[in-house]
Amino acid sequence: MSGIVGFIGKRNALPILLDCLDTLDYRGYDSAGIAISDESTIHIRKTVGRIDDLRAVVNRDLVTTGILGIGHTRWATHGIPSEANSHPLTGCDDRFIVVHNGIIENYPQLKRNLLKQGHTFATETDTEVIPHLLEEYDTGDFEKTVQAVLPMLVGSFALAIMSKEQPDMIIAVSQNNPLVLGRDKTDLYFASDIPAMLPFTRQFYPIQNGEYAVLTQGHVTIKKFADGTEICPIWRLADETLGDVLLNEYEHYMRKEIFDQPKALRDTLAGRLTEDGVELAELAAAWDAGLFARVRKIDIVASGTSYHAGLIGKKALEQLLHFPVAATYSSEFVHEHANLDETNLVILLSQSGETADTLSALREAQKYGCPTIAITNTAGSTISRKADCTLLTKAGPELAVASTKAYTAQIATMLLLAVWTAQRMSSLQPTQVADLLAALRQLPTDVESTLIMIDDAIDQLAQVTYDQESLFLIGRGLDYVLALEGALKLQEIAYIHADAYAAGEMKHGTMALITPGMPVIALATQTGSVFDKTISNIREVKARDAFVVGITTVSDDVLADEVDEVMYIPETHPLLMPVLAAIPLQLLAYYAGTVRGNDVDRPRNLAKSLTVE
Ligand code: F6R
Repeated sequence: MSGIVGFIGKRNALPILLDCLDTLDYRGYDSAGIAISDESTIHIRKTVGRIDDLRAVVNRDLVTTGILGIGHTRWATHGIPSEANSHPLTGCDDRFIVVHNGIIENYPQLKRNLLKQGHTFATETDTEVIPHLLEEYDTGDFEKTVQAVLPMLVGSFALAIMSKEQPDMIIAVSQNNPLVLGRDKTDLYFASDIPAMLPFTRQFYPIQNGEYAVLTQGHVTIKKFADGTEICPIWRLADETLGDVLLNEYEHYMRKEIFDQPKALRDTLAGRLTEDGVELAELAAAWDAGLFARVRKIDIVASGTSYHAGLIGKKALEQLLHFPVAATYSSEFVHEHANLDETNLVILLSQSGETADTLSALREAQKYGCPTIAITNTAGSTISRKADCTLLTKAGPELAVASTKAYTAQIATMLLLAVWTAQRMSSLQPTQVADLLAALRQLPTDVESTLIMIDDAIDQLAQVTYDQESLFLIGRGLDYVLALEGALKLQEIAYIHADAYAAGEMKHGTMALITPGMPVIALATQTGSVFDKTISNIREVKARDAFVVGITTVSDDVLADEVDEVMYIPETHPLLMPVLAAIPLQLLAYYAGTVRGNDVDRPRNLAKSLTVE
């Protein structure tokens, strides 16, 4: 999984490509490379490491004013991160130069045939078959050669290709993998996503599945690669602005995005939360056309943090609809789902809208005729294009690898969907959920208050626990779901062995791991019997001398007497407590990561938007 960029215009391509790659490197950051065309030569430079490492390599000896080129930032899938495996890749004689995001599923067969035809391979990548195929089937005309080779490739791929024989042209291809064209008055760009190009332009055309673009100076032609039909692109202005991708006063994107949450929630709720309930214009036409008429069961499918948002959505839908609702990891759903048919509504949550596991789950659901709704933060993403309907979370671009503002926007959107569906399916009156609607209206302000109340205390907690390598999070009900998310964030950002347990389960085995001083974060933000039972479980870990930090609401006066430290957050509707309680856990992961010297925006071994299964 990787990011790709391209530029052709009237300016020096090199700094533009490097700047675009800087914004794109959340998609993969274990190696990087560029190819720049001067009038006669195509210069290639690549290296293991980040974009600044590539800058250092380029600064060593590359002097070019070339006005076109392509670039790549890689998250290794086939072959270790090494200079050889870094893109751009070439074949035997360097005639074609390729960068690729995605996976060529049939590369073993293609490689076997190419080996028989006398090609020798220099990398362990799936991508390398592409320049070799281009050489093997070279027609002497760059575009025709690409047209001849594309049908041979099976899988998902966004490609950028250059040819030494036509060094004034770039061909960009999209097949089940995002690639967006950008343009201004004189120049053309493309990249795996819009934010990478925002410093240069706001006019975009997402290349559609099965299309390729031929870029020459000042000109772009887009065609379908099935039959060569030319497409007239509809360019649009980006919703995102440059301000969304600048760090401003923040040191890291993760912190900026945590503090962006009040705005992200306001934007997500705007226009949808009305005086009379919830309006979801994006779903109304499909509803009126009867798409959901036979629905009797709901499946929520997602990966990672989005799955955790889905678990909260499950609870809300169950409570409001009285329907069976299942939440399943995308990677499991594809192989393990129960009987599916048009009575199953399948809701797919994906911040990026590109996660390969979730995309496969969507295809699986569609195979059985299930109506589908995508909830995504990325307009025009593959999942949103393929689902029957899309609800956009309007969190703005999320550039840190760890999802924070997209997660809380997903929860808010799930709740809107639950209320909207309940209004329509079971004639629920807004008065029956008046408290939930009021809490949703208040949510952005409550998140603001939480940030102010908790930031310093969490910073201090991270400093005093900086030498701990393990940590437990416990809770019941929605607090347990939240514990799962808190643990994932701590693993991902602080590299701490953090584990989440349903508080009542500790005594069934895990309690054996509790040693004196072991930090345990006890979440007690739900009320009633869930709260009371959690207190009992907290006493059990306290009795084993754990260092317990409790998180509860301002109205609680019980927890403080039971734990070593207590942190208070505002109180809201129980279904929304996971939004407020996510804030201290996000901040804890952030501070625990920074105090350990980790690169919190680009945690090791990870990447955002995983376009491989
Ligand atoms: C963790 C995180 C990941 C993503 C997961 C799914 O902080 O961000 O667990 O939630 O990779 O990604 P999307 O939501 O883009 O499908």
